[in-house]
Amino acid sequence: MRVGYFQFAPAFGEVARNLELVTTRLATVQCDLMVLPELFASGYQFVSKEEVESLAEPVPDGATTKRLIELARDRHMHVVAGLPERQGKVCYNSAVLVGPAGLIGTYRKTHLFFEETLYFTPGDTGFTVWDIGSAKVGVLVCFDWLYPEAARTLALKGADILCHPSNLVLPHCPDAMVTRCLENRVFSVTANRIGSEERGGKERLTYIGASEVVTPRGRILHRAPRDQEDLTILDIDPTEARNKALNPYNDLLRDRRKDLYEL
Ligand code: ACM
Repeated sequence: MRVGYFQFAPAFGEVARNLELVTTRLATVQCDLMVLPELFASGYQFVSKEEVESLAEPVPDGATTKRLIELARDRHMHVVAGLPERQGKVCYNSAVLVGPAGLIGTYRKTHLFFEETLYFTPGDTGFTVWDIGSAKVGVLVCFDWLYPEAARTLALKGADILCHPSNLVLPHCPDAMVTRCLENRVFSVTANRIGSEERGGKERLTYIGASEVVTPRGRILHRAPRDQEDLTILDIDPTEARNKALNPYNDLLRDRRKDLYEL
């Protein structure tokens, strides 16, 4: 199976430009699963609720999801990508999973970070695993990485790959995903963005790049530079994520002591 990510610098509010850039860069890719950053077509640093409402889109009928479906159809691939989703007056920081036949699922970010809490409603979808044929995939959005319960829930539901659209600003996540993968024996594909935003007199946010693909044994197959566009596609065997036996005596998930945990 071929999986990849596209790390780039979206321009805030320039949805048409960002969609065009992604479509152009991915015009000849050959892969089964492509992951794009969080809020990849809208930009991240909103300065008002009205601004979020004006850029948020219905799913699947908004321009961003429609374009992603076209791309998935043209390239015969699945795509996971982040966007501001509007449902009536409510806006979620969401990610969609689309394939050649259309929308497969939507994940609404559970753990909102920093000023996202002012503009978005916390996600209500929970954590779903979708079978895309070549693998079973689950979605986390950026700051969800800090909650091991989120990745664990996806692993318990059978995910082989954590698809992780991100707009990371703190330095810890790329290394932490090694642990998320090890402790769940899953792959992860983190698609982060680069560049910076400094809008409405707010503090500058500098995105750390370092998108990566990590194996169930915690090996970083590839990590992107911190400040350059990077399109990476790699071969993985998703069935590696299905063997949870650590040795003849230990099975990662079976050996959990649920009776002793507070969850
Ligand atoms: C983040 O959740 N965008 C840091």
